[in-house]
Amino acid sequence: MLKGKHIVLGITGSIAAYKAAMLCRLLVKEGAEVRVIMTPLAKQFITPLTMATLSKHPILVEFFNPENGEWNSHVSLGEWADMLLIAPATANTLAKMTTGIADNLLLTTYLSARSKVAVAPAMDLDMYAHITTQQNLRTLAERGVAIIEPAAGELASGLVGKGRMAEPEDIVEQVKALFAAEVCRTMEGKSYIVTAGATIEPIDPVRYITNHSTGKMGYAIAEELAARGASVKLITGRTALATPKGVERVDVLTAEDMYNAAVEAWKGADGAVMCAAVADYTPQHVAERKLKKSDDDMRIELKRTKDIAKELGAMKGERVLVGFALETDNEAANAEGKLERKNLDFVVLNSLRDKGAGFGGDTNKITIIDKASATEHPLMSKRDVARIIVDKIESITK
Ligand code: C5P
Repeated sequence: MLKGKHIVLGITGSIAAYKAAMLCRLLVKEGAEVRVIMTPLAKQFITPLTMATLSKHPILVEFFNPENGEWNSHVSLGEWADMLLIAPATANTLAKMTTGIADNLLLTTYLSARSKVAVAPAMDLDMYAHITTQQNLRTLAERGVAIIEPAAGELASGLVGKGRMAEPEDIVEQVKALFAAEVCRTMEGKSYIVTAGATIEPIDPVRYITNHSTGKMGYAIAEELAARGASVKLITGRTALATPKGVERVDVLTAEDMYNAAVEAWKGADGAVMCAAVADYTPQHVAERKLKKSDDDMRIELKRTKDIAKELGAMKGERVLVGFALETDNEAANAEGKLERKNLDFVVLNSLRDKGAGFGGDTNKITIIDKASATEHPLMSKRDVARIIVDKIESITK
């Protein structure tokens, strides 16, 4: 299962470092090629000689060898790796990974790695439960780092709780599962646009018109396309979401900005998924100064925005164009209308009537409508919905 896989095993300064010896042995036994990087403190917990013997290669600690000036290139290690596995990962290293501190070879390798990254935290129960550590772990998970959960049990401090590094056998199982779950890079060489999030239409320097879209669905689609090897330009309205790994992000504000960015990007793209909730109307004039209230009612003149999907549809040719429809009534008929008007290959319909579908949440319930059929899917995570949508894109481009 791990035959020929290149694993960089990072060891940090935790008492659980002694388990890294067994972990290394098991990985090698499974056929993996292992290179070990230790942080300077890790050497206090387990000897370089032990790890060099087990991994069959000299271990790496410093940026260069002080004896002969030989450079230990974190860039080439990062490129070589199919996985960077940091076990044990201390609270300190997790915090540095979160903030981008790069003061040792392991951290620079992490920042250079293009591979999958997994961490097996090991620390005292209170350090593990601390809100800072928990937040760091969440941030890393959002950025695609796999967290191999620590176990509960007796800790080196004598306290009992959650924080013991997972057992080497369990870590190896999880490493195998991570490789097995790796999606095939079936969209390598393809270039896709995804629009996501809500646009913001200013009324004056203080107020604006927008909607409830959080961008989650579009970001999940961008992530899925990138995971399959496509190069992805994510044209996004304002959101609180982190940019998915390997995705080029273009931030825009208004429907007009999004239109311009999308039309420009469409020139070199093989397909586009229009997931953004674009304002249909924008103020006729944007006041230069804050509008003052008076006792009278106020009217704001609105004008139509340009329909981005329709514009891309008009220039589509043989390329793939996917639209979304969020409806409250007459769902299917409205979605079919969009298919026609915007020259889309298919429409992803979600109804605000369905519980768990639509804005904000982590789940969605969709029906995929194309010229020939309407396929209803059950409620699922937006990540799984993204997989279904990208599967459908692949099925019509093959
Ligand atoms: O016409 P309606 O707004 O309901 O269509 C929704 C679909 O069209 C979505 O895919 C949305 O991203 C796209 N759209 C667009 N530009 C607009 C309005 C909608 O790309 N101005």
